Amino acid sequence: MDESEGQEEPLDTPADGRDADGREDAQAVIEQMHALEAEVRRCQRCRLARTRTHAVPGEGDYRAVVMFVGEGPGYEEDRQGRPFVGRSGQFLTETLARLGIRREEVYITNVVKCRPPENRDPQPDELEACADYLERQVTLINPRIIVTLGRFSMRRWFPNGSITKIHGQVRNIGRGRVAMAMFHPAAALRNPRWREAFEKDMQKLPPLIERARKANAAARRGEALPAGVPHPGDPDFEPAGQAGQAAETPTENDESASATSA
Ligand code: URA
Ligand code: SF4
Repeated sequence: MDESEGQEEPLDTPADGRDADGREDAQAVIEQMHALEAEVRRCQRCRLARTRTHAVPGEGDYRAVVMFVGEGPGYEEDRQGRPFVGRSGQFLTETLARLGIRREEVYITNVVKCRPPENRDPQPDELEACADYLERQVTLINPRIIVTLGRFSMRRWFPNGSITKIHGQVRNIGRGRVAMAMFHPAAALRNPRWREAFEKDMQKLPPLIERARKANAAARRGEALPAGVPHPGDPDFEPAGQAGQAAETPTENDESASATSA
């Protein structure tokens, strides 16, 4: 593996030395994901450990090309130790199914792995304490597409983005990855307008997934990436910075649009 330093990493070769889809050592990824999940389940890094029933590391295919990142476990998730299994989870799963995407083929997690009491917003120190787990999940799974659900996960990739402005936009975030911010399914369930936006944004996924799979297949064969795959040379994709820089104080809409009471 070429490790040329100080150079832009070619996009079909992520900087961690694995191939584009991270499958060089699938067994090692499985083992490290299992270790990470175990670590999350016994984690005491922040105050949410004291009130949780079960930590919720995430679940899905460790080889997924798309990763969904929600806010944090709700009542049902805390009870079962699984992400998005309550009402908003059901809605997410059904929306995916209508588009021919099985829940098992994606990876689903949250920015905080333990339920904030009464579903309150996660606090800055809790988000910070938990961030490392999400970082590692992204590195290990190496998804081509990250979909943020709601305001808190949006901020991880679009620090100054406003959900009502940037939802549905596919942005390049480097290393052959794109991110798209979406409304939280709980918000979609509450408001028909947000539901319409949620479903419309979701429709962008099947073709993106198709392109990502082609990119991975090409990279595995050692070929140049075909036109139209998510990478910075692709005219369809703008740098994430542009969304992030469009500084915008969250409006009231944003606040309620990403609440997760469902
Ligand atoms: N809402 C979230 O943000 N995450 C879940 O896992 C469930 C509901
Ligand atoms: Fe640990 Fe994250 Fe749970 Fe806090 S929320 S205890 S950091 S796993």
